Amino acid sequence: MSRFPKDFLWGVACASYQCEGGWDADGKGPNIWDEFCHDTAHQHIKNGATGDVACDSYHRFREDVALMKAHNIRAYRFSVSWARVIPDGDGAVNEAGLKYYEDLVDELLANGIEPLVTLYHWDLPSALQDRGGWLNRDIVEAFGRYAGIFAGRMKGKVKKYMTLNEPQCAAAFGYGVGIHAPGWTVSEEKVARVYHHMCLAHSAAYRAVKAEAGEDVQVGVAPCGRLTYPEKDTPANREAAYKATFAMPADDWMFTFNIFLDSVCLKRYADDIPESVRRFAATVDPKDWDLMEAPDFIGVNVYNGKMVDETGAYVARYEGFPQTACRWPVTPEVMHYGPLQIGQRYGKPVYITENGQSCNDRIFLDGQVHDPDRIDFLHRYLLELSKAVGEGLDLRGYMQWSFLDNFEWNRGYDERFGIVYVDYRTGERIPKDSARWYAKVIETNGECL
Ligand code: NOJ
Repeated sequence: MSRFPKDFLWGVACASYQCEGGWDADGKGPNIWDEFCHDTAHQHIKNGATGDVACDSYHRFREDVALMKAHNIRAYRFSVSWARVIPDGDGAVNEAGLKYYEDLVDELLANGIEPLVTLYHWDLPSALQDRGGWLNRDIVEAFGRYAGIFAGRMKGKVKKYMTLNEPQCAAAFGYGVGIHAPGWTVSEEKVARVYHHMCLAHSAAYRAVKAEAGEDVQVGVAPCGRLTYPEKDTPANREAAYKATFAMPADDWMFTFNIFLDSVCLKRYADDIPESVRRFAATVDPKDWDLMEAPDFIGVNVYNGKMVDETGAYVARYEGFPQTACRWPVTPEVMHYGPLQIGQRYGKPVYITENGQSCNDRIFLDGQVHDPDRIDFLHRYLLELSKAVGEGLDLRGYMQWSFLDNFEWNRGYDERFGIVYVDYRTGERIPKDSARWYAKVIETNGECL
């Protein structure tokens, strides 16, 4: 018997800047990733790559949806390019941009695929960045307005939204260390302000989507962060792992789930926030906490985690530890314990909104793309996930990252996460072995695992 619930939502995910292309098509405004990639004074991206064309899904989305259908995909998590819909972020609406997403949503629905919409996956309109981006509180109202406009147009069609994708990466990489757009490096206190504005923006969007599209529309969020798992499956070791996942040490607080989720779900900061966050927290207007909205569900993006022993100390990885093409450790156990920890702390339904691996994929002599290591990775992670379901996790869906190979941010096109290969010379799509394998997993609701 499969442990996955009967109406489990099996899907795939991607994001606007990573797959759409059409960077200046039909009235779209420039966003911070366009600018970051076009910055000729600095090479921020591997090989100087850009998302100008990417997978060209802006023009080829019908072909992509047909491929999804052919592989039994039930849900497509995609993100909306804010600057395509509102070119300067808070001014006039670009009808062609809205129409593009409406056509995509209609195409998905016509093929029996549920759209899961992420409103922000890092591509902020440049005009808003010029006014300080996430450091300027005006962004809260602008994001709420944009969310309401989008959701109003998709009323009756889109039933599930995520406000923000991985605010942790947008804040820590974009404003902390500067390896992602906008490439700023501000003080930790200011990064804490970025987070606070993101929490308020999430909350404003939560209210706007419900107001425009109906109370029954589900509004979640898709954060990420450090997850840890126990070395031994004992209650004491599980407890130590839980504590390590939500700990906020001064040198490792930015990349945590709770820097975002404690604010919106628990309406407070954790007790152990470091001094820099504490200084910012002291400036927060207490009335802000009343504005926070807990998401209806939590989307958890899971790639890897760290093992801890019963004392909560990290267990060193052995030499030659399994790793992916981009050298991330392969740690399937994190998929068992991580989602349970999130469910336990916040008491909300969980979706896995991303999981997958990059491989050094290529077209073989037989014209196919064989990717047994991806299949093994997904298989291992899904088996671990089924243990969490067996222990009572309220899990509603799983989105594999990613359907197509795509633009992997500062790593450019070197990393291939897709279950469908994209030949960037021609745009041709070639389903990999893993796409056929995943189709079978979906068909059997995980029974074949
Ligand atoms: C997290 C991000 O949301 C996504 O944009 C990225 O491509 C994948 N993980 C893989 O790094």
